[in-house]
Amino acid sequence: MYRWLRKLLFLLEPEKAHALVLHGLRLPAFRWFLRRMYHFEHPSLQRTLWGITFPNPVGLAAGFDKNAEAVAAMADLGFGFVEIGTVTPRPQPGNPRPRLFRLTADEALINRMGFNNQGVQAVAQKLRQQGPLPIIIAGNIGKNKDTPNDQAVRDYEKCFRELYPYVDFFVVNVSSPNTPNLRELQEKDSLQQLLHHLQEVNHSLPHPRPILLKIAPDLSFAQLDDILSIVQQTRIHGIVATNTTTSREGLHTSPEEIARMGPGGLSGRPLRHRSTEIIRYLHQKSRGKIPIIGVGGIHSVEDALEKLRAGASLVELFTGFIYRGPALIKQIKQALVAQSIKK
Ligand code: FNR
Repeated sequence: MYRWLRKLLFLLEPEKAHALVLHGLRLPAFRWFLRRMYHFEHPSLQRTLWGITFPNPVGLAAGFDKNAEAVAAMADLGFGFVEIGTVTPRPQPGNPRPRLFRLTADEALINRMGFNNQGVQAVAQKLRQQGPLPIIIAGNIGKNKDTPNDQAVRDYEKCFRELYPYVDFFVVNVSSPNTPNLRELQEKDSLQQLLHHLQEVNHSLPHPRPILLKIAPDLSFAQLDDILSIVQQTRIHGIVATNTTTSREGLHTSPEEIARMGPGGLSGRPLRHRSTEIIRYLHQKSRGKIPIIGVGGIHSVEDALEKLRAGASLVELFTGFIYRGPALIKQIKQALVAQSIKK
């Protein structure tokens, strides 16, 4: 059925289709329908990490519900958790449109949204108004475009403090390719300073939250080694691997079309292999001691299992959810239950 809906949605400009879906997810009748179609839970799907019990290990990646507008509906779709954001301290419009493109032949997207969001206060207020939510929520935090990198720590702290009462854990995003120079914060000294400071703030609060770091797929193994040692030193709780890539290798879409789309982060199928490779490396190097959320190019049950086998404790979808629809979430969960029964 999603195939038909997708045909209609794909007739629209990608960002319009996205807005329409987000709007639909706020309608009670649509939510009821989704629940009937896609609800599937089983005790064997539960995962407990950092003292949080996830009803299942399949989450919605950051960027889909940046302003926490439809978080409750994500439980109706079958997700076990959702990352809201990236949020920044002040609201910002993001880059000029068009800024989101489909590469249908590759089951991929290119985006240069640029952290368009309503600002952390508005997002916190939305969460407050919704009251207790039926889903685990992660707050994905970033910095405003016009904040220089040497003052970025303040932006992250502001987002952290504002969202602290409403989210279960945090994801520190230093890996979006669409905010100029943001990815430089992945470098050793700046990253250490940022995470150290956030941990200080975190531990000064009554109930410290797990903090995870979201990394780019374009890091070298040497850079991944640095990241691992910083994660261990600062005692943050895990890694989200990975964000979108700036690489355009191995695509079926013509180079002319890709050039017309312009810069941005590539997500979806072409990212799958690199993201799994990074997960496997981090898992092996850390001897399984650092929990990893695996994300990047999961478009099938097998893709999700591959990430879990490589060492991810949880997985997240974005582009695969756009191309395959909510049935994919249910299929992954059914496969996991079948596996647990076989064991
Ligand atoms: C993203 N992603 C993203 N990540 C993030 O940390 N903060 C963000 O604001 C966004 N925004 C965003 C917008 C759009 C339109 C896309 C397609 C993606 C990255 C996303 O969370 C995920 O890491 C990548 O898309 C890789 O996963 P998939 O899409 O291949 O499943």
